[in-house]
Amino acid sequence: MSTLAEPESDLDMRTVTKAYARWAPVYDFVFGQVFERGRLAAIAAAEKVGGRILEVGVGTGISLPHYSKACQICGVDISEPMLRKAHERVEEFNLGNVEGLWVMDAEKLTFPDASFDVVAAQHVVSTVPNPEAALDEFARVLKPGGEIILISRVGADAGLRRSFEHWFQPAARKLGWRSEFLFERYTQWTARTPGMRLAERRAVPPFGHFSLIRFAKDGGTGSARINGGMREAS
Ligand SMILES: C[S@@+](CC[C@H](N)C(=O)[O-])C[C@H]1O[C@@H](n2cnc3c(N)ncnc32)[C@H](O)[C@@H]1O
Repeated sequence: MSTLAEPESDLDMRTVTKAYARWAPVYDFVFGQVFERGRLAAIAAAEKVGGRILEVGVGTGISLPHYSKACQICGVDISEPMLRKAHERVEEFNLGNVEGLWVMDAEKLTFPDASFDVVAAQHVVSTVPNPEAALDEFARVLKPGGEIILISRVGADAGLRRSFEHWFQPAARKLGWRSEFLFERYTQWTARTPGMRLAERRAVPPFGHFSLIRFAKDGGTGSARINGGMREAS
Protein backbone atom coordinates (compact mmCIF):
# COMPACT_ATOMS: atom_id res chain seq x y z
CA MET A 1 0.00 0.00 0.00
CA SER A 2 1.26 3.48 -0.86
CA THR A 3 1.62 5.83 2.09
CA LEU A 4 1.62 8.92 -0.15
CA ALA A 5 -1.60 10.93 0.00
CA GLU A 6 -3.49 11.46 -3.24
CA PRO A 7 -3.55 15.10 -4.30
CA GLU A 8 -6.81 16.94 -3.86
CA SER A 9 -8.68 17.33 -7.13
CA ASP A 10 -7.64 20.36 -9.13
CA LEU A 11 -10.40 19.82 -11.72
CA ASP A 12 -14.12 19.80 -11.04
CA MET A 13 -16.89 18.13 -12.97
CA ARG A 14 -18.65 21.40 -13.82
CA THR A 15 -15.53 22.79 -15.48
CA VAL A 16 -14.99 19.53 -17.38
CA THR A 17 -18.56 19.25 -18.67
CA LYS A 18 -18.62 22.93 -19.65
CA ALA A 19 -15.32 22.56 -21.47
CA TYR A 20 -16.40 19.49 -23.48
CA ALA A 21 -19.77 21.03 -24.35
CA ARG A 22 -17.70 23.74 -26.04
CA TRP A 23 -15.30 21.26 -27.63
CA ALA A 24 -18.00 18.95 -29.03
CA PRO A 25 -18.69 20.76 -32.36
CA VAL A 26 -14.99 21.11 -33.23
CA TYR A 27 -13.35 18.22 -31.34
CA ASP A 28 -12.83 15.92 -34.33
CA PHE A 29 -11.41 18.73 -36.44
CA VAL A 30 -8.96 19.87 -33.73
CA PHE A 31 -7.95 16.52 -32.19
CA GLY A 32 -8.89 13.93 -34.81
CA GLN A 33 -5.61 13.82 -36.70
CA VAL A 34 -3.24 14.86 -33.93
CA PHE A 35 -4.24 11.98 -31.63
CA GLU A 36 -4.82 9.41 -34.36
CA ARG A 37 -1.64 7.33 -34.02
CA GLY A 38 -2.05 6.93 -30.28
CA ARG A 39 -5.72 6.11 -30.68
CA LEU A 40 -4.98 3.40 -33.28
CA ALA A 41 -2.21 1.95 -31.10
CA ALA A 42 -4.66 1.66 -28.19
CA ILE A 43 -7.26 0.00 -30.39
CA ALA A 44 -4.66 -2.51 -31.66
CA ALA A 45 -3.70 -3.33 -28.04
CA ALA A 46 -7.37 -3.71 -27.08
CA GLU A 47 -8.05 -6.03 -30.00
CA LYS A 48 -5.19 -8.32 -28.90
CA VAL A 49 -7.28 -9.02 -25.81
CA GLY A 50 -10.58 -8.81 -27.70
CA GLY A 51 -14.05 -9.64 -26.38
CA ARG A 52 -16.22 -7.04 -24.68
CA ILE A 53 -14.58 -3.61 -24.52
CA LEU A 54 -15.64 -0.59 -22.48
CA GLU A 55 -14.39 2.70 -23.84
CA VAL A 56 -14.54 5.36 -21.13
CA GLY A 57 -14.58 8.99 -22.29
CA VAL A 58 -15.60 7.78 -25.73
CA GLY A 59 -16.31 11.41 -26.61
CA THR A 60 -17.50 11.91 -30.19
CA GLY A 61 -16.95 8.20 -30.87
CA ILE A 62 -13.99 8.95 -33.08
CA SER A 63 -12.38 5.58 -32.35
CA LEU A 64 -15.52 3.47 -32.79
CA PRO A 65 -15.31 2.76 -36.56
CA HIS A 66 -11.73 1.51 -36.12
CA TYR A 67 -12.51 -1.44 -33.84
CA SER A 68 -12.81 -4.90 -35.37
CA LYS A 69 -16.43 -5.93 -35.79
CA ALA A 70 -15.54 -9.02 -33.76
CA CYS A 71 -15.27 -6.83 -30.64
CA GLN A 72 -18.35 -5.75 -28.76
CA ILE A 73 -18.04 -2.11 -27.67
CA CYS A 74 -19.74 -0.15 -24.90
CA GLY A 75 -19.01 3.58 -24.60
CA VAL A 76 -19.54 6.05 -21.77
CA ASP A 77 -18.88 9.76 -21.41
CA ILE A 78 -19.84 12.50 -18.98
CA SER A 79 -20.56 14.97 -21.78
CA GLU A 80 -23.94 14.69 -23.51
CA PRO A 81 -22.92 16.94 -26.42
CA MET A 82 -19.84 14.77 -27.10
CA LEU A 83 -21.91 11.59 -26.82
CA ARG A 84 -24.54 12.95 -29.25
CA LYS A 85 -21.79 13.03 -31.89
CA ALA A 86 -20.89 9.45 -31.01
CA HIS A 87 -24.51 8.36 -31.57
CA GLU A 88 -24.46 10.07 -34.98
CA ARG A 89 -21.25 8.23 -35.83
CA VAL A 90 -22.71 4.85 -34.86
CA GLU A 91 -25.62 5.49 -37.22
CA GLU A 92 -23.45 6.91 -40.01
CA PHE A 93 -21.10 3.89 -40.00
CA ASN A 94 -23.83 1.41 -39.10
CA LEU A 95 -21.75 0.06 -36.21
CA GLY A 96 -23.66 -3.04 -35.14
CA ASN A 97 -20.85 -4.04 -32.76
CA VAL A 98 -21.53 -1.00 -30.54
CA GLU A 99 -23.69 -2.41 -27.76
CA GLY A 100 -24.56 0.96 -26.25
CA LEU A 101 -23.46 4.51 -25.39
CA TRP A 102 -24.31 6.00 -22.02
CA VAL A 103 -23.83 9.27 -20.17
CA MET A 104 -21.86 8.04 -17.17
CA ASP A 105 -19.17 9.23 -14.80
CA ALA A 106 -15.87 7.34 -15.08
CA GLU A 107 -15.61 7.53 -11.31
CA LYS A 108 -19.02 5.91 -10.76
CA LEU A 109 -19.54 3.27 -13.43
CA THR A 110 -22.88 1.52 -13.11
CA PHE A 111 -21.72 -1.79 -14.67
CA PRO A 112 -21.42 -4.87 -12.46
CA ASP A 113 -17.99 -6.15 -11.39
CA ALA A 114 -16.00 -8.13 -13.98
CA SER A 115 -18.11 -7.04 -16.98
CA PHE A 116 -15.38 -6.33 -19.56
CA ASP A 117 -12.30 -7.93 -21.10
CA VAL A 118 -10.81 -4.49 -21.75
CA VAL A 119 -11.40 -1.04 -20.31
CA ALA A 120 -9.95 1.52 -22.71
CA ALA A 121 -9.63 5.25 -22.04
CA GLN A 122 -7.85 7.43 -24.53
CA HIS A 123 -6.88 10.93 -23.42
CA VAL A 124 -9.31 10.69 -20.52
CA VAL A 125 -7.70 9.84 -17.16
CA SER A 126 -5.89 13.17 -16.84
CA THR A 127 -9.20 14.98 -17.55
CA VAL A 128 -11.33 13.43 -14.79
CA PRO A 129 -11.52 15.16 -11.40
CA ASN A 130 -10.26 12.10 -9.46
CA PRO A 131 -8.14 9.90 -11.74
CA GLU A 132 -7.44 7.28 -9.05
CA ALA A 133 -11.17 6.85 -8.36
CA ALA A 134 -11.71 6.28 -12.09
CA LEU A 135 -8.87 3.74 -12.21
CA ASP A 136 -10.43 1.90 -9.23
CA GLU A 137 -13.67 1.68 -11.19
CA PHE A 138 -11.87 0.47 -14.33
CA ALA A 139 -10.24 -2.30 -12.27
CA ARG A 140 -13.56 -3.24 -10.67
CA VAL A 141 -15.48 -3.69 -13.94
CA LEU A 142 -12.57 -5.58 -15.55
CA LYS A 143 -12.68 -9.38 -15.76
CA PRO A 144 -9.75 -11.35 -14.28
CA GLY A 145 -7.11 -11.64 -17.02
CA GLY A 146 -8.36 -8.43 -18.67
CA GLU A 147 -6.54 -5.20 -19.36
CA ILE A 148 -6.93 -1.49 -18.77
CA ILE A 149 -5.49 0.28 -21.83
CA LEU A 150 -4.87 4.00 -21.63
CA ILE A 151 -3.52 6.71 -23.79
CA SER A 152 -2.52 9.30 -21.28
CA ARG A 153 -0.77 12.57 -21.08
CA VAL A 154 2.38 12.16 -18.97
CA GLY A 155 3.96 15.31 -17.60
CA ALA A 156 7.70 15.92 -17.39
CA ASP A 157 9.50 15.12 -14.12
CA ALA A 158 11.85 18.10 -14.40
CA GLY A 159 13.30 20.75 -16.69
CA LEU A 160 11.82 23.35 -18.98
CA ARG A 161 8.84 21.25 -20.01
CA ARG A 162 7.93 20.71 -16.35
CA SER A 163 8.06 24.50 -15.76
CA PHE A 164 5.94 25.13 -18.83
CA GLU A 165 3.37 22.51 -17.78
CA HIS A 166 3.17 24.07 -14.33
CA TRP A 167 2.72 27.55 -15.82
CA PHE A 168 0.08 26.33 -18.30
CA GLN A 169 -1.94 24.32 -15.77
CA PRO A 170 -4.57 27.03 -14.94
CA ALA A 171 -5.34 27.52 -18.64
CA ALA A 172 -5.34 23.75 -19.29
CA ARG A 173 -7.90 23.31 -16.50
CA LYS A 174 -10.30 25.72 -18.23
CA LEU A 175 -9.87 23.71 -21.43
CA GLY A 176 -10.85 20.54 -19.53
CA TRP A 177 -7.57 18.73 -18.86
CA ARG A 178 -4.33 18.85 -16.86
CA SER A 179 -0.98 19.79 -18.32
CA GLU A 180 0.78 18.48 -15.18
CA PHE A 181 0.23 14.76 -14.72
CA LEU A 182 3.14 12.71 -13.47
CA PHE A 183 3.51 9.01 -14.29
CA GLU A 184 4.10 8.52 -10.57
CA ARG A 185 0.34 8.76 -10.07
CA TYR A 186 -0.03 5.54 -12.07
CA THR A 187 2.78 3.70 -10.26
CA GLN A 188 1.34 4.73 -6.90
CA TRP A 189 -2.11 3.55 -7.94
CA THR A 190 -0.74 0.17 -9.07
CA ALA A 191 1.22 -0.22 -5.83
CA ARG A 192 -1.91 0.18 -3.72
CA THR A 193 -4.27 -1.83 -5.94
CA PRO A 194 -4.16 -5.57 -5.32
CA GLY A 195 -4.37 -7.74 -8.42
CA MET A 196 -3.35 -5.01 -10.88
CA ARG A 197 0.09 -4.64 -12.40
CA LEU A 198 1.71 -2.40 -14.97
CA ALA A 199 2.20 -4.45 -18.15
CA GLU A 200 3.51 -1.83 -20.57
CA ARG A 201 4.37 1.81 -20.98
CA ARG A 202 5.35 3.16 -24.38
CA ALA A 203 5.55 6.71 -25.74
CA VAL A 204 3.09 7.60 -28.50
CA PRO A 205 2.71 10.75 -30.61
CA PRO A 206 2.23 13.66 -30.51
CA PHE A 207 5.51 15.13 -29.20
CA GLY A 208 6.28 12.13 -26.96
CA HIS A 209 4.14 13.78 -24.25
CA PHE A 210 1.68 10.88 -24.27
CA SER A 211 2.00 7.22 -23.35
CA LEU A 212 0.17 4.03 -24.10
CA ILE A 213 -0.16 2.33 -20.72
CA ARG A 214 -1.44 -1.19 -20.11
CA PHE A 215 -2.43 -2.58 -16.73
CA ALA A 216 -3.21 -6.28 -16.44
CA LYS A 217 -5.57 -7.82 -13.92
CA ASP A 218 -4.47 -11.08 -12.34
CA GLY A 219 -6.35 -14.27 -12.98
CA GLY A 220 -8.25 -15.62 -15.94
CA THR A 221 -6.77 -17.34 -18.95
CA GLY A 222 -7.04 -14.46 -21.45
CA SER A 223 -4.30 -13.02 -23.62
CA ALA A 224 -3.59 -10.36 -20.97
CA ARG A 225 -2.04 -13.15 -18.92
CA ILE A 226 -0.16 -14.69 -21.84
CA ASN A 227 1.25 -11.33 -23.02
CA GLY A 228 2.26 -10.79 -19.42
CA GLY A 229 5.74 -9.28 -19.00
CA MET A 230 6.41 -5.60 -18.43
CA ARG A 231 7.62 -3.77 -21.52
CA GLU A 232 8.92 -0.23 -21.47
CA ALA A 233 9.94 1.73 -24.52
CA SER A 234 9.93 5.47 -24.52
C1 LIG B 1 -9.81 14.64 -24.50
S1 LIG B 1 -11.40 13.91 -24.70
C2 LIG B 1 -10.97 12.31 -25.38
C3 LIG B 1 -12.04 11.77 -26.31
C4 LIG B 1 -11.63 10.47 -27.03
N1 LIG B 1 -11.42 9.40 -26.07
C5 LIG B 1 -10.41 10.67 -27.89
O1 LIG B 1 -9.45 9.90 -27.77
O2 LIG B 1 -10.38 11.57 -28.70
C6 LIG B 1 -11.82 13.51 -23.02
C7 LIG B 1 -13.20 12.91 -22.90
O3 LIG B 1 -13.37 12.43 -21.56
C8 LIG B 1 -14.66 12.79 -21.11
N2 LIG B 1 -14.68 12.84 -19.65
C9 LIG B 1 -14.06 13.73 -18.83
N3 LIG B 1 -14.33 13.44 -17.55
C10 LIG B 1 -15.12 12.35 -17.54
C11 LIG B 1 -15.73 11.58 -16.51
N4 LIG B 1 -15.57 11.87 -15.23
N5 LIG B 1 -16.47 10.51 -16.87
C12 LIG B 1 -16.64 10.17 -18.19
N6 LIG B 1 -16.09 10.88 -19.19
C13 LIG B 1 -15.33 11.94 -18.88
C14 LIG B 1 -14.91 14.15 -21.76
O4 LIG B 1 -16.28 14.49 -21.77
C15 LIG B 1 -14.32 13.93 -23.14
O5 LIG B 1 -15.25 13.42 -24.04
